[in-house]
Amino acid sequence: MRAVDLIIKKRDGEELTTEEIQEFITGYTNGDIPDYQAAAWAMAVLFNGMTPREITDLTLAMAHSGDILDLSGAVDIVVDKHSTGGVGDKTSLVVLPLVLTCGVHIGKMSGRGLGFSGGTLDKVESIPGFRTDLSSEEFLEQLSTFGMVLTGQTGDLAPADGKLYALRDVTGTVPSLPLIASSIMSKKIAAGAQRIVLDVKAGEGAFMETVPEARELAELMVQIAHLAGRRAVGLISDMNQPLGFAVGNALEVKEAIDTLKGNGPPDFVEHCLQVATYMVYLAERADHVEAARSIVEKANHSGQAFEKFRQLVEVQGGDVSYVDHPHKLPQAKLVEAVPAPRRGYLAVIDARVIGEMAVVLGAGRLKKGMPVDHAVGIVVHHKVGDYVEVGEPLFTIHADSQDKLDEVKPELLNAHQWSDDPVKPLPLFYGVVTDLE
Ligand code: URA
Repeated sequence: MRAVDLIIKKRDGEELTTEEIQEFITGYTNGDIPDYQAAAWAMAVLFNGMTPREITDLTLAMAHSGDILDLSGAVDIVVDKHSTGGVGDKTSLVVLPLVLTCGVHIGKMSGRGLGFSGGTLDKVESIPGFRTDLSSEEFLEQLSTFGMVLTGQTGDLAPADGKLYALRDVTGTVPSLPLIASSIMSKKIAAGAQRIVLDVKAGEGAFMETVPEARELAELMVQIAHLAGRRAVGLISDMNQPLGFAVGNALEVKEAIDTLKGNGPPDFVEHCLQVATYMVYLAERADHVEAARSIVEKANHSGQAFEKFRQLVEVQGGDVSYVDHPHKLPQAKLVEAVPAPRRGYLAVIDARVIGEMAVVLGAGRLKKGMPVDHAVGIVVHHKVGDYVEVGEPLFTIHADSQDKLDEVKPELLNAHQWSDDPVKPLPLFYGVVTDLE
């Protein structure tokens, strides 16, 4: 096989065979195929697409380019969740202990934030001592004995995707549904997942800005899971406004702790209950989704999930006094509540701008590897549809310098748009994609 022939085949809109895809991915991973040929191939895929069979072959080829974790000795059914990324998305911090309370064991490998979208590892590292660098052995041991793990990637998972994603990032080939879907699913399959809840965000603060795009991605990933012998459910959730109120690492940990104690923002609570419901359902702890929902609600009311989160922090070396007394979490030097400049109904709270301003404050990073400031961020005080009086606190900025505070304040004010007429609240979900349809 010559790489150029596969580029030409894809350029001309033809379908690649399983063997051709495998050889291409193997050749690219071991360096036989250079970046320039892989880039040309990715551009051909971007323009001409791939069939579901090709996408599944690409997913499996990338998944098998490195280690494949076998968690079957540690849990009966390996359930995982994945969010396509958003602003204020601290769901894993609540959902993992919640599903553990329902008897679902889960070993989660999370990522760091990049750009306007936050990452669970950065959030949880607001708790001093919390280790996110567990080895594969530690991961398996903790999953077997405690039933919950929250760490960074262990092992060399889907290296082909790591290499291809970095190349796509600099060659304008990220926004291709087949490449995005195979990239996400290859990492989930390599991490051993058999059942996956995909939280696919749609809106201004998400990768997929429209609901039809998010639905297409969800359908594609659910189909890949099916063809690859796994099961997935895709929840299409709103990301036009931040999820919950807090955006920023320690601020989000505090909001997650409040939620685990029964005092969470209603939209975030409902989001977590819904994600947990589908995880409990896929883990076969209930025969149907409604029964799974009752189990999750009961667990949520029991207060045990907070205890499980506390234990997670302890088991992974974190200082639990920060969970017991969240005011000990990193605090920004400057905290300023900004009043509403007018009265009216909130029509827009632009999640992307809020996420970008959190990055300006230092809560996120523009390039991989940059450090983050755990203390800073933004707390919005309202949701779309709320009526707000002039002078009421609209949002609070947590900053480490006056300059940064002054820089983000006007942008955050502009991120809020107003209406004199009542505005409908945004839906939390736009639909559910299952392989049963
Ligand atoms: N996230 C991924 O893991 N891969 C993509 O291609 C896009 C988002």
